[in-house]
Amino acid sequence: MLLGLSNKRVALGTLLASAAAASVAAFQPAKQAQRAGVALNMVAIDPSTVTKKDYEDICGVSFDEQNMKDRLRSTKYLYPKHVEVIEDIAPIADEMVDAVLLETGDASWQPQDFLPDLTKEGWEDEVKELREMASGLSDDVLVVLIGDLITEEALPTYQTLLNTFEGCDDPTGTTDTPWARWSRGWTSEENRHGDLLNKYLYLTGRTDMRSIEVTIQHLITNGFNPGAQKDPYRGFVYTSFQERATKVSHANVGKLARREGDTRLSKICNKIAGDEGRHEKAYQTFSEEILARDADGLLMVFGDMMRGQITMPAENMCDGVNDHLYNDFSTIAQRIGVYTAIDYAEIIEHLVKRWDLEKIEGLSSAAEKERDYLCRLPERYRKLAERSMNKAAKAGVEQEKKPFAWLHGRAV
Ligand SMILES: [Fe+2]
Ligand SMILES: [Fe+2]
Repeated sequence: MLLGLSNKRVALGTLLASAAAASVAAFQPAKQAQRAGVALNMVAIDPSTVTKKDYEDICGVSFDEQNMKDRLRSTKYLYPKHVEVIEDIAPIADEMVDAVLLETGDASWQPQDFLPDLTKEGWEDEVKELREMASGLSDDVLVVLIGDLITEEALPTYQTLLNTFEGCDDPTGTTDTPWARWSRGWTSEENRHGDLLNKYLYLTGRTDMRSIEVTIQHLITNGFNPGAQKDPYRGFVYTSFQERATKVSHANVGKLARREGDTRLSKICNKIAGDEGRHEKAYQTFSEEILARDADGLLMVFGDMMRGQITMPAENMCDGVNDHLYNDFSTIAQRIGVYTAIDYAEIIEHLVKRWDLEKIEGLSSAAEKERDYLCRLPERYRKLAERSMNKAAKAGVEQEKKPFAWLHGRAV
């Protein structure tokens, strides 16, 4: 079909005009953007060179608005049954957008609320005070804080992931469905976390910001694959787990910061942990609703995911210097008790209890097996974690210190 294009003399000018109109439309609020979409179709076709009908023939598709909406909706799914369930709980996602997510804009907290206002009189004193408080932070805490910041800054990767879950996607970027609105609302809240931690760390003057920025760029470039396989069930089990893990990590950094005298950082971490706590509840509610409709399906997925380790979102971090950066970072997080193997076991335990797996009735025999496996899992993990931690303590293993480019090469 494309070969016919030159014969139809589609003017370059009209294509450029349509690109310009598209870039304008991208900055319109949802309703205006839809109207602009209609205009865009008109602009793209210059009646003096090619009629709308000709243009549709060239491309092989109809461009009227309803037709385009229908075409943008996937109709072939890898998990049709799961999509049916996801569509059935869309009204709950709709409620969650209002009940769980914060209002946007002025009504919501913003990074600036926790940072010196550099436009105000006396900002130098405020910055000085921030730096004095941060001067007491240990390198251990700084490394874990930097790792958490880098994880948050890879947000584009997570929104991309969310959009792969079948039935939950946002095909236009402004799609007005509950799942698409949830995805954008969640992302907008998460976006504040990296912003706030980044600005805070910059102002402390304690870290090599360039090395941190290099790591963020590498991490986004490398991406990550948590094994969700486009399956919304897997996706929501993963996010149920991961939001809680992130909450634990931020809350523990907050506690350590307070102990080391940085009350500002402690407040920052607690605020972020509060967001993660709200998100955790939402994703766990989505999974609970799936369980109520398709317990067999969710248990099979949950069991399968737990047979492997849950992939942490920043596992592919790289500073261009250290090939074992993620391991070194997570070793320190474990050593100072920010995120440990015990936490991992406790998160599984929380999910098993939160979803009341023991009391689910009417399961297939395969799902029964998965349920039994999952109910025993926290205890098994806890024993393993305790054994390995005791072993390390008894042996008096002094961990070898590793240099971190994030801290100008200081060994931690
Ligand atoms: Fe976050
Ligand atoms: Fe989160």
